[in-house]
Amino acid sequence: MKARGRPVPLRRSGVRARNHPSWWAFFVHRCSGIALAAFLPLHFWALGEALHGASALDGFLRVTEQPLFKFAEWGLVVLLSVHLAGGLRVLVLEFRPWTGLRKNWIAATAGLALAAGLSFVLALAG
Ligand code: HEM
Repeated sequence: MKARGRPVPLRRSGVRARNHPSWWAFFVHRCSGIALAAFLPLHFWALGEALHGASALDGFLRVTEQPLFKFAEWGLVVLLSVHLAGGLRVLVLEFRPWTGLRKNWIAATAGLALAAGLSFVLALAG
């Protein structure tokens, strides 16, 4: 039955929002931001290995030659390009005159992430 004249219950309006590309743009932006932030402590820990001498860092860098690390690096490149392009879209939405949700920017974000991911794979293969 339709709830005419009454507000749509939150749970239903949430489901409806998820059918919108902008909701997915927000979701991907948040997940990529959190994943990038989670990566930073690991990165600093790895760099900190240099404090134990060159051989300690070299030992760690040898581990990073494994395919699993290469795959993780690829994921990082994709996450960063997704977050960078998605973040630029949000900034344009916020600071430029309003001309709609710029959904073509969402497509451009996906395209940039795809191009960055493919370039990384090509660079690995080359
Ligand atoms: C590469 C350049 C970057 C740009 C242009 C950028 C842009 C943005 C923008 C505009 C927002 C606000 C989104 C909103 O208000 O809806 C944001 C959120 C966020 N960013 Fe970035 N960012 C960048 C890099 C990073 C990096 C390197 C990290 C992690 C270390 C990061 C982590 C986050 C997190 C955790 C959020 C919060 C997401 C949320 O609450 O939904 N960002 N970013």
